[in-house]
Amino acid sequence: MAALRAMPRRIINCLSEQKASLNPLPYIVIENLPKDEEVLTTPDAQIFTPSAKKGFISENLAIAVGALIGEPYSIVHEGQNVVNNLIPSLETKKEYTGLGSEVELDFHIENAALKYMGDRNFSPSGLVLTGVRHDPKGPLTRVADAREALRTLSEDDINQLSQPLYRIKVPYRWRLSMPGEMQETSLVPLIQGNIDLPEVAAVFYPDMVIPENEVAASAFENFYDAIRKVSFGIDICPGRLIYVDNRFTLHSRDAFKPSLDESGRPLRWVQRVIVASNLWNHRNLNQVKERVFEPVLEPVLV
Ligand SMILES: [Fe+2]
Repeated sequence: MAALRAMPRRIINCLSEQKASLNPLPYIVIENLPKDEEVLTTPDAQIFTPSAKKGFISENLAIAVGALIGEPYSIVHEGQNVVNNLIPSLETKKEYTGLGSEVELDFHIENAALKYMGDRNFSPSGLVLTGVRHDPKGPLTRVADAREALRTLSEDDINQLSQPLYRIKVPYRWRLSMPGEMQETSLVPLIQGNIDLPEVAAVFYPDMVIPENEVAASAFENFYDAIRKVSFGIDICPGRLIYVDNRFTLHSRDAFKPSLDESGRPLRWVQRVIVASNLWNHRNLNQVKERVFEPVLEPVLV
């Protein structure tokens, strides 16, 4: 309610138009937001540490924006609370996840394989990212509107990408809680629907998409080159928030070496909230707490 009172009408209108999705934007950047003034340290990503900063401005902003576009939620192995902390750590530095650092988390649709969970889509419709603490030597987050990339591709390539010629692996952290046969999709298309408003399920970091043949592989490579060409980088710092439409906009994070504060804690602290248009698809998952779910083994990948 505080956010609704404080936000200019044009921002609220923009977010509700995104929710309606008649003419969705690929991403929305909001600048000059209020910040948590006293951030005392950077906590461990998975440990709820309210004493790390005074107040909850960043969390409230991320939830407020997410809730105006969709329904915020979390999956327990990605974050035990609705607001996920993306903080680099030594143990996870080589991971292809939001907690990694040494490896480039190349362009992807968040949880792309989960668009093909039986008749249900467990991939978020969008994600909110905002800064809590800033690493001046930190990485850029990059975004790419797949529609712009697809417009530069040949009809043959688009045709390949629209056919069920690809297997997509479930994200790294999901694999730990799934048996082998559910760790990748059967053959699925990477784009569905008209290329002006496509549903995209592509992941370009290593070993995540297995094309069925060489022609499909070449279309996948051309798509990757086109995505890189149309992308741009944004520094996610306190006071800035970005919403990424996960249906047709890819995002990436550069590789980086985390800078540390005088206590040896990383300076980079980004928060993420994922949203779905509603949580009906999640009704058969274990609800660990309100809006936080744990996958169960029943949902079968088609
Ligand atoms: Fe991501």
